[in-house]
Amino acid sequence: MIYDFDTVIDRTKSSSVKWSFRKERTGVPDILPMWIADMDFVCAPEIVDALKERVAFPIYGYTERTPGYYNGLINWMSKRHGWNGIKKEWILFTPGVVAGFNFAVQAYSHPGDKIIIQPPCYYPFFDAIVNNGRRIVENPLKVVDGSYVMDYEDLERKIDGRTRMIILCSPHNPVGRVWKRGELEKLVEVCEKKDIVILSDEIHNDLIIGDMKHVPTATISEEAMQRTVTLVATSKTFNLAGLTNSNVVIPDKRLREEFQNVVENNRTKNTNIFGIVAQEAAYAKGEPWLEVLLTYLRGNYQYLKEYLATKLPQLKLYPLEGTYLPWIDCSALGMNDKDLSEFMLKKAKLWLDDGILFGYGGSMFMRLNIACPRSILREALERLEKAISES
Ligand SMILES: Cc1ncc(COP(=O)(O)O)c(C=O)c1O
Repeated sequence: MIYDFDTVIDRTKSSSVKWSFRKERTGVPDILPMWIADMDFVCAPEIVDALKERVAFPIYGYTERTPGYYNGLINWMSKRHGWNGIKKEWILFTPGVVAGFNFAVQAYSHPGDKIIIQPPCYYPFFDAIVNNGRRIVENPLKVVDGSYVMDYEDLERKIDGRTRMIILCSPHNPVGRVWKRGELEKLVEVCEKKDIVILSDEIHNDLIIGDMKHVPTATISEEAMQRTVTLVATSKTFNLAGLTNSNVVIPDKRLREEFQNVVENNRTKNTNIFGIVAQEAAYAKGEPWLEVLLTYLRGNYQYLKEYLATKLPQLKLYPLEGTYLPWIDCSALGMNDKDLSEFMLKKAKLWLDDGILFGYGGSMFMRLNIACPRSILREALERLEKAISES
């Protein structure tokens, strides 16, 4: 099967958060949206066929997951990520990964407790902690030899008797790191010593751009398995975010029961029927599509890298090991964050995510979504080059 990632598809009439409200949200009707993490590619035909078949049966009532759903997830985690032996009863569900980490905050801490994050990081992590009345403790990533690394000494120092959990992003959005086994081992060691829960958001686990493998945190050791709550979904991998279905894998019985209590209390046990159907099809039949997607994304990253190196060398691109969201240091443009944001919106007509949104360490950065046809990426880079040359 030939999959097409080059065709530009008009999404403006589909109530797309990314494309349909550009004028209302930015004031610039023809702005190129390259912010929110969804892809401008049509879904794998194997998933579309499964959805069509389900839509054709016109009763959409409460729906249970089939053995095929569970086996699909279990086999995928084993085959692609080396996590063998996941049991069906370890798998719980939430309507999205953001809901999942909000529930985890509620399940494993009390108001006033402390939760650690590693900024710059995905901004809903901050909201999940603050909106639930918990306290944020920042363990910022450090840049060493041009690459982001974790600061274990700082982490250990900051964990006290009120600290309950760390929210780990693996692979990391927005810095694009795919954590190595050794790095995760050190993290687990600190979390074990200090006895805190590890919430591992692995939504980007399949989107590996560099020559490396994603390591699920739970596979580091038996101890890691017993203190890790893992969030996984097909929403980023297969571009199904609108179908709001995700999985929470919790091997430890007590942690699982605490999480399930929150799910029951919020009455969110039933997620979207089409999300369930799509995930089952994606894990059963979507792998060939994913391989072609990854080749295309690697090509886009290479194109971006070469373009910046030759035409805009003042912008510093960090190595993109995972995700499709390169992280670019724009400090050489000599603006403050507000002016940089305005410049991208009004002068370059590019709707990116301002680095400052991701907290400490994000100032003067921009996050660019390259999951689009290469012609759109080229257009974006040409707009940027023109705006910079005229400024
Ligand atoms: C790290 C991370 N977690 C969660 C999400 C969103 O998850 P969902 O749409 O399933 O709530 C994103 C989306 O970009 C993300 O980058």
